[in-house]
Amino acid sequence: MKKSFKLFVAAAGLLAISTSASAFSTAPCKACHAIDHDVVGPAWKRVAAKYGSEAALAKVFKAGFKVDERKIASTEPKFKRQASIMTGQFNHLIKGHEDEAAKALFAAVKSGKM
Ligand code: HEC
Repeated sequence: MKKSFKLFVAAAGLLAISTSASAFSTAPCKACHAIDHDVVGPAWKRVAAKYGSEAALAKVFKAGFKVDERKIASTEPKFKRQASIMTGQFNHLIKGHEDEAAKALFAAVKSGKM
């Protein structure tokens, strides 16, 4: 009895760790992004290529995701004009989860699924 309780506690702990690691969902991003073609926002394949690494994207997120520091918006006028749309999404969904969001974007590009 005691032993199985300990096992239960250990399993619950592991479950908590695994859910917190995968807590960031890219589901809301799908409204405007796809992996390999531009929709409302740029294709995530292009985003990943421009930033080069999760760390580089997380860094720009953590610095407040300023339009001048965004690699796509700062070089593509079409997207610069729509930067405020993404700012709203950033404030709502990404702020406070910068590392997880960058990781989720690169993982989606790698697996081809978001
Ligand atoms: C309502 C539409 C919309 C949603 C939802 C949305 N985006 Fe965007 N996103 C845009 C638009 C428009 C741009 C282009 C403007 C820009 O780059 O700032 C963009 C650009 C981006 C960029 C590139 C920024 C740059 O210029 O370098 C990243 C990274 C990004 N989105 C991540 C996300 C993530 C992660 C989510 C989900 C949490 C998300 N977006 C949800 C519209 C959206």
